[in-house]
Amino acid sequence: PRPIDELTIWDDAKAMLKKARAEGIETVHERLDQQTPHCKMCELGTSCRNCTMGPCRVSEKKPLGVCGADADVIVARNFGRFVAGGAAGHSDHGRDLIEVLEAIVEGETTDYKITEEGKLRTIAGEIGIETEGRTVKEVAHDVMDEFFADFGSRRKEVSFLARVPQKRKDVWAKLGMTPRGVDREIAEMMHRTHMGCDNDAPNTLIHAARTALADGWGGSMIGTELSDVIFGTPTPRMSTANLGVIKEDQVNILVHGHNPVVSEMILAAARDPQLVARAKELGASGINVAGLCCTGNELLMRQGIPMAGNHLMTELAIITGAVEAIVVDYQCIMPSLVQISGCYHTKFIDTANKARFTGGIHYDFQPATAMTQAKEIVSLAVEGFAQRDKGRVDIPCEPIDIMTGFSNEAVIAALGGSLDPLVQAIVAGDIRGAVGIVGCNNPKIKQDSLNVGLAKELIKRDILVIATGCVTTAAGKAGLLVPEAIEMAGPGLKKICGSLGIPPVLHYGSCVDNSRIMQLCAALANTLNVDISDLPVGASSPEWYSEKAAAIGLYAVASGIQTHLGHPPHILGSKTVTNLAVAGLEDLVGAAFFIEPDPVRTAEIFDERIKAKRKALGLSE
Ligand code: SF4
Ligand code: FE2
Repeated sequence: PRPIDELTIWDDAKAMLKKARAEGIETVHERLDQQTPHCKMCELGTSCRNCTMGPCRVSEKKPLGVCGADADVIVARNFGRFVAGGAAGHSDHGRDLIEVLEAIVEGETTDYKITEEGKLRTIAGEIGIETEGRTVKEVAHDVMDEFFADFGSRRKEVSFLARVPQKRKDVWAKLGMTPRGVDREIAEMMHRTHMGCDNDAPNTLIHAARTALADGWGGSMIGTELSDVIFGTPTPRMSTANLGVIKEDQVNILVHGHNPVVSEMILAAARDPQLVARAKELGASGINVAGLCCTGNELLMRQGIPMAGNHLMTELAIITGAVEAIVVDYQCIMPSLVQISGCYHTKFIDTANKARFTGGIHYDFQPATAMTQAKEIVSLAVEGFAQRDKGRVDIPCEPIDIMTGFSNEAVIAALGGSLDPLVQAIVAGDIRGAVGIVGCNNPKIKQDSLNVGLAKELIKRDILVIATGCVTTAAGKAGLLVPEAIEMAGPGLKKICGSLGIPPVLHYGSCVDNSRIMQLCAALANTLNVDISDLPVGASSPEWYSEKAAAIGLYAVASGIQTHLGHPPHILGSKTVTNLAVAGLEDLVGAAFFIEPDPVRTAEIFDERIKAKRKALGLSE
C-alpha cells in the first residue's frame, strides 16, 4: 500500500488510516490501489456500452464502433450522460424540497413549516407570482406549482432565469442553450445519446451545457431557496471542524448525504428531552450530532452543528470507534460505510427509497411522519451507546474553530443592505476578484492538498475565496474559515475582511448552494450592467470526482465563468471534445475549462484572467 503520508495532508486522517491498517480495515485508498491501473479506454472516454451491437472500444487501429460512431461521438455521448447524471442528482434533491413544501401547503405535515415567509414572498415576486394581499399558503401553493412546472416540458425557460442578465440569456438563446425544463433536458440527453441520435459531438456538448444550466439555475437553485424557506436562511455563526468534534462521552450521530430534510429532523429529535435523559441513563453526557459532506454543510450553515469531515473522512470517522449511528440520505455515500460500520457497533441507517444500502437499517422517511421516524432513529443510536467498545475508541485531535453561514442575504445585510460596498471594494482593487472553490475529494489526489493549496494562493493575491461542499471542511481545518485568517491574505483583502470581521474564505454552503454563487454573480453583473463573463471571477473544483461536479463545472462555464479542474474528466480520447472544453467554449459562451494539477500555477492562471477582466472593465489590474 502507498505510505499514509502520501494520502492526505491531515493528522486526524493519518491517525485513523493507521488505526484502520492496524485493525485490518480496508479504505478507499486500498481499493483504489486494487483498481489501478484503470482501463485506458474508459479513462479516455472511448469505450461505449450504449447498445448490444457493442460494447465497443475505439482507438487509432479500430477507429469506429460497430454502428460507425467515432471517438468524438462516443466521448461526447459519454460525457453528456455523465453530466445528466449529475444534474439529475442535484435536481431530484431540489424536487424533494418542493415535495416537502407541498406537504406543508396540503397540511400533510406539521414537522416542517415555512420558516422564512419573507424569503418565500421575495422568490414569488422574482418569478412573477402575485403576493399582494395573499396568504402565505396561497403564495406557497403557486410557488410550488411553478417549481414543479420547472421540472416538466411545458416551459420555455426555468423560472429562475429571471435572475440572469439579459446579455447572458441572449448568448444562450443564440446557441440553443436556454434551459427549459429540468427533467426535459435530462431526458433529452438520454434520448440524444441513444444509438443513432445525436452523432455530432459539438451539438451533444451544447445540450450537455443546457442540461447543466437546468441544474444550476433550476433544480439546484430550487433546492437551495426552498431549503432556506423551510429551514431558515443562513446567518454567520461559529462552529468547529475535524474528527475532534466526535465526543468520547456522548452518543455520536453522524449525518451524511445532501438533503437537509432528514438531517434537520434528526438534529431536532436529538434535542428531545426523553432521548437525552435515556442517553444519560446509559452513561453518556448527551447526544452529539455532527455532519459529513453536504448534509453536514446544510446543518452547519443554518444550525451551526460541527463538521466531522469531508468525503475522504467519512470512512475514517467511523474508525474512531465512537460513532453510534451514521444516518444517510443520498449522494456521495460510499457503500463501504456499511462494511466499515459492521466492524464496529455503528448502526448504518439509510432513509431514502432511492438510496438504499444492502445491510443498512432502512427507514422510508416521509414528511408526514418525519419527527416520529427521526426519534426512532435517534433512539437506535442512543441504545447503541451501551454496545460501544471503549477499548477501540480513538478520537485523534481537538476541533478547530470555523465561521459559517454566508448566504447572499447575510452578506448583503453585513454590507449594510446592498452589494454596493462589495462592488466598490472590487472597483478599488482591494478585492481584485473572487473564485469559488467547490466540490469533492478524490483518492487519486492527496486529500485536500489542492483544495487548501489553491485557497491559500488566491487569498494572498487579494482574490476572495468562496467555499462550498467538501472544500468547506478542508478550508476550515487549514484555519482559513476564521476572521484571523486575514493574516494569510493580501493587504486589500485583509483590510476589507478585517473591517467586516469576516474570513477571507467564505463558507457559502453545500454543493447545491453553488446556486448562491451563481445568484451573486448575476447580481454583481446586473449591478455593473455587464454580462457574468465580464466579471473578474472564477470557479474551481480541484479534487472533484463526481458527475454532479461535472454538471456544476459546466453550468459555471456556460454561465460565463472560467473554471478550473484539478484533473480532466474522461474526455481526452476526443480532440474535438477536449478542444471545445478548454478553448472552443470561450468563443461560444465567453469562458472555458482549464485543467491544472498544481495549485500555484492554477492561482497564476486565475490571476491573469482576473487582470484581463479588470482591465476590460476599466479597472486597475
Ligand atoms: Fe458500439 Fe455504437 Fe453500440 Fe456504442 S452505440 S456500443 S459504439 S455499436
Ligand atoms: Fe456535496
